Amino acid sequence: MFGRRKPIVELSTESELGGGLRRLLDVRHLVFLGIGAVVGAGIFSSIGDMAAGSEGRPGAGPSLVVSYVLTAIACGFAALCYAEIAAMVPIAGSAYTYAYVTLGEGVAWIIGWDLIIEYAIGNVYVAQSWTEYLRAFLLGTFGWDFPIWMATDMQTAANTPAIAAVAPHVGPWVVAFNLPAFVITALLTLALCRGVRESARINAGLVIGKLMLIVVFLAVGFVHIDTANYTPFAPGGWQGIWTAASIAFFSYIGFDAISTAAEEVRDPQRSLPRAMLIALAACAILYVAVALVMTGLVPSAQLRTGDPLAFALRSAGLDSLANAMAFGAVVAVTSVLLVFQMGQPRILLAMARDGLLPPAFARVHPRFGTPAFGTVMTGLFVAIAPSIMTPAQAIELTSIGTLFAFVLVSLAVLVLRIKEPDRHRPFRVPGYPVTPVLAMASCLFLMAGLPASNWWRFAVWLLVGGAIYGLYGRSRSRLGRIAGERNTKS
Ligand code: ALA
Repeated sequence: MFGRRKPIVELSTESELGGGLRRLLDVRHLVFLGIGAVVGAGIFSSIGDMAAGSEGRPGAGPSLVVSYVLTAIACGFAALCYAEIAAMVPIAGSAYTYAYVTLGEGVAWIIGWDLIIEYAIGNVYVAQSWTEYLRAFLLGTFGWDFPIWMATDMQTAANTPAIAAVAPHVGPWVVAFNLPAFVITALLTLALCRGVRESARINAGLVIGKLMLIVVFLAVGFVHIDTANYTPFAPGGWQGIWTAASIAFFSYIGFDAISTAAEEVRDPQRSLPRAMLIALAACAILYVAVALVMTGLVPSAQLRTGDPLAFALRSAGLDSLANAMAFGAVVAVTSVLLVFQMGQPRILLAMARDGLLPPAFARVHPRFGTPAFGTVMTGLFVAIAPSIMTPAQAIELTSIGTLFAFVLVSLAVLVLRIKEPDRHRPFRVPGYPVTPVLAMASCLFLMAGLPASNWWRFAVWLLVGGAIYGLYGRSRSRLGRIAGERNTKS
């Protein structure tokens, strides 16, 4: 049961016959979706932490550029693996679908469950970052801020005396609500229900906006670089570079989100691999350039701040551009939210179509052609959870879950090449079998670099998922029911 595999032919037929999603996207849309998902909270915020380090953790300093390159290489191996299977199985559902045809239903469920971490839980953190950037922008530009209890989560409010003192109470409980995160998620959910092309258009606008700001940062920052800031180049030594590379992984998460739109893509066999690799390469170049300029503007040890790019500009006397960067961060993070909110319902759709989740998630809206129910459910979760979870709890799960999905996708490439060597592969991983092995090794290496708390949370998450599969999906699986009917007939 756990190991029953879905034939690729059946997958393609079911998406063509019953899916109802519309093929409206091309390579250009996909590259924008990729960049939309990738460039966000990572480059606008955690880059400072990577350069400066934190309590007991060495920073990479200017050698941050090496960290970005190392992580890009690890992601590049994984992207090539994604590309091979995405071209072969161009169906909504991303890594979940790939696992179903290669490693069997049980592993597919684990991946599908795991991808909820990457998309929905990851977006809880992104929505919380959005709130922070919006507050920074409003405060810097208009001198206005939200009442603090209306822009945070309940746990943080209860544990921070300064917030608890001003927040309303219900009996002994402190009331807090992340209003900005709720509103932006609700608005994006509405856009996503209306249509994939409309959403892709909004995304394209946001991506152009954030790219323009980053280009301005690079151009203006470049002429203000003080090369003395590049010495010492690697203050934290190899340890600093390595730890920063693990943190950098969050900045690259998202290029794989392109594969969730596989059923809405024209000529998916060609478009998917190309778009994924172009988006990843573009983001890697951008990140290296930003790291080079930022660490050239200011001594790296000073970059331990929530808005490092704006801080670097301010330090170089460029105050008005620094405020524009705060606005840029709001725009950048909006597009990350949008693409992940788009990806999650499509994974849920694929799982529901297989009977592993309730059928409502597989329904496509008759007028808009979008998985509206799954979109609204995802929207509700991501709108409300930022008021309940702390940012640390959300981000801790995101990187480990995504790395695990990458490991399984790379394994799927190896398994499928062995089990079905003659199947037509529109895109083949170069350097097979070394590349998928390197993809797995480098992702496991990055996972090993994450703190133990990540592993605990992840294990609990998988156990809960296992219980749901045991109680619901295993007996309702469409593939299982078909096999059962065949057995009864014969
Ligand atoms: N890569 C995305 C970001 O940095 C998740 O926001």
